[in-house]
Amino acid sequence: MKIKNILEKACAKNNLTKDEIKVLLEAEDEDKDLLFKTADRVRKEHVGDEVFLRGLIEFSSYCKNDCFYCGLRRSNNQAQRYRMQEDEIVEVAKRAYQMGYHTVVLQSGEDMFYTKDRMCSIIKKIKENVDVAITLSIGERSYDEYKAFKDAGADRFLMRFETSNEKLYRQYHPGMSFEKRIECLKWFKNLGYELGTGFLIGLPGQTIDDLAQDIILVKELDADMIGIGPFIPHPQTPLKDAKEGSVDLTLKSIAILRLLIPDANIPATTALGTLDPLGRQKGLMCGANIVMPNVNNLKYKLKYELYPGKICINEDATKCRGCIESIIVSLGRKVGQGKGQSRHYKRAA
Ligand code: SAM
Ligand code: SF4
Ligand code: FES
Repeated sequence: MKIKNILEKACAKNNLTKDEIKVLLEAEDEDKDLLFKTADRVRKEHVGDEVFLRGLIEFSSYCKNDCFYCGLRRSNNQAQRYRMQEDEIVEVAKRAYQMGYHTVVLQSGEDMFYTKDRMCSIIKKIKENVDVAITLSIGERSYDEYKAFKDAGADRFLMRFETSNEKLYRQYHPGMSFEKRIECLKWFKNLGYELGTGFLIGLPGQTIDDLAQDIILVKELDADMIGIGPFIPHPQTPLKDAKEGSVDLTLKSIAILRLLIPDANIPATTALGTLDPLGRQKGLMCGANIVMPNVNNLKYKLKYELYPGKICINEDATKCRGCIESIIVSLGRKVGQGKGQSRHYKRAA
């Protein structure tokens, strides 16, 4: 199969077979360059040169789950745990708005301390104080809770399915179920959230075939935003000796998904920037159009350790804001104005 033909088909039909996706994932040299250039062109045509910023507020490092790869897993008794007070979260959201963020992402471990009522109150208070879109990334809850959060003003939900290989999912997520994960993702669509999902690259045992299936699943779920990041081993987890995920495969996955869902929002993730000092720039040049700088206080940034070596951990939010803008401008792009709602979502509405 010729790369050129596959790319032409992807652009014309926004669809590819698993075998065609695998050929793209395995592309090297000029074939890989052509994939990246095509994705960059499609990104420009469909979502333009604006790069939208999302202010990430990691408000709790407690988690009831035990995902094998994550530093926040409940069995990690060396993890530093914190919970932010409601007023503190609202203050950070206000500061983010003043710095020019029009979306805040409220992220945490699965922490049931934040009950339905507490979460609704936080969402409402942020909305009363600042004109921002709110993305939730807080894990699995009941339909009723998700509905209440939406009614309270949450706009988007981000939850990766992590891997579409059910056997691997079971292995790395004790006590959790793949079916439940997918059910939640369908609920988000149903409830009118902008749906964000995606997967990890490089979990031990994951094959190219699995990655191609992950890409197909994102397409089938019809995601409005797509978060893909390389796995980074954390020393206090069962996967501490595993190899880190490939930057190259992450970039290729971003590029392929840009071709399959051309108007989606796709972040160049922090994990990508952690494994490669130019990772975020590379992501933005092969299909990505979003970055999610952390806007939290330094004392919390250090404690939310999903994986070691996370970038920006010692930089305060103002420094990151300036830094990220200069990165965007250096690529000939501009910081997006407004909330940066997914065009894919808008089109479907
Ligand atoms: N607890 C919520 C959940 O799991 O959806 C939200 C927070 S969780 C920390 C956010 C994402 O971090 C996960 O979806 C996972 O893909 C990513 N993550 C966790 N550990 C990681 C690691 N060691 N390397 C790279 N990404 C990791
Ligand atoms: Fe908890 Fe999310 Fe980490 Fe899993 S990935 S242990 S659910 S914070
Ligand atoms: Fe944080 Fe560059 S974005 S230091």
